[in-house]
Amino acid sequence: MPRRHSRFVRIFGTIVFAVVTVLFAALIVNAFMNGGKPLTTLVPKGPSAQSIQNLVLPVFAIAGVVFVGVMGAVVFISWKFRETDEDDPEEFPEQVHGRTVLEIGWTILPALILAGVAVGTVVTLLELNKKDPEAIQVEVTGQQWWWQYKYDLNGDGNFDGAEDITTATEMVIPAGRPIEVTTTSNDVIHSFWIPGLNGKKDAVPGLHSPLKLEADDPGVFRGQCTEYCGLSHANMRMLVRALPSEEYDAWVKNQLKGHEAQPSGELAKEGRKTWESLCAQCHVIKGINDAKIKDNPPPLVSGVAPDLTHLMTRGTFAGSIFNLYADVQSTSPNSNGDQLGTDPTDVAAAGNPGAALTGGKVDEATVNRTALEAWLRNPPAQKPMYAQGGRGMPNLGLTEVQIDQLVAFLTTLN
Ligand code: CUA
Repeated sequence: MPRRHSRFVRIFGTIVFAVVTVLFAALIVNAFMNGGKPLTTLVPKGPSAQSIQNLVLPVFAIAGVVFVGVMGAVVFISWKFRETDEDDPEEFPEQVHGRTVLEIGWTILPALILAGVAVGTVVTLLELNKKDPEAIQVEVTGQQWWWQYKYDLNGDGNFDGAEDITTATEMVIPAGRPIEVTTTSNDVIHSFWIPGLNGKKDAVPGLHSPLKLEADDPGVFRGQCTEYCGLSHANMRMLVRALPSEEYDAWVKNQLKGHEAQPSGELAKEGRKTWESLCAQCHVIKGINDAKIKDNPPPLVSGVAPDLTHLMTRGTFAGSIFNLYADVQSTSPNSNGDQLGTDPTDVAAAGNPGAALTGGKVDEATVNRTALEAWLRNPPAQKPMYAQGGRGMPNLGLTEVQIDQLVAFLTTLN
């Protein structure tokens, strides 16, 4: 009888097994730590995310016990009953079957575990879907490749009234108050996901799907479209900014305003003219072209482009992939360039509009002109798009003078 395994193979196998076990354990421990992971699902920041967590942890623990038990038994049995040189190759092991107690046991135990998980799941689903009459209603529309937010502030079921708000890219909410989001889409299927606040909800054309969000504390909560939706799917991000109640009220008050008045400053005035002749076909600025565009919706595949009325109240632009404000305060290592930082709660890293957030003056020194100019110069080079097919912003071939004018005008939009 030849030796089946050399000593080397056995030692090597044991080492590989030990290394894999340690790496696996490290992976699990790491997953539960926040450490600058903006899209972690395991650090809840609101009641909905918390109820999901309350279900995930026990289910994960049970699955862990089963996993360790089964794998441990497999390893133990493989080791204990391994073939050795002393074994008689003719000998057949004793056959064991028909042990009633064992068979009933391993049928009932998994059934009980699954029943427990099912009850927990149903309870959690009911909790997540409970309606709240106090909730703020927001319609979230996915577009290739950015998100539009419409607030029904007076609760009349209409999102386009004079007392309602339309904004894009960033959703501003009051901390500690429930928001009832309805997701839908203008083109293909997207998926709305703010992992700190709740699970995912697909945004499907023609469907309106509910999702409850609430942030325990003020802060910034990032998200990412999670349904493949074309070229810039990975660049379709979202950002929820939760504010203290009074600040949210000030934000709302400012968002309701339009920009009827001409901007002061020659450059900005020229910029407004350029905007009206080139950008106003797709983008809306309340007080300038909102009435006109309502009568003649732009002939785009994906509907409209982001509403720019209060552009400078947002910290990010272009599907929330670029900072609109240069990051002067943040200490995050990744947040001093155009790209966003990774700390989920770092407001400065998410572009800090400062006083402009609630309609105050834009601090021109902090505006990220480099990113804004690069975007205007050639948008498809900054973010992959089928711009010529009507999806995303085309390269308008703007001159440097026009870009300067536009930046001067855009930075007045607080
Ligand atoms: Cu939208 Cu992926």
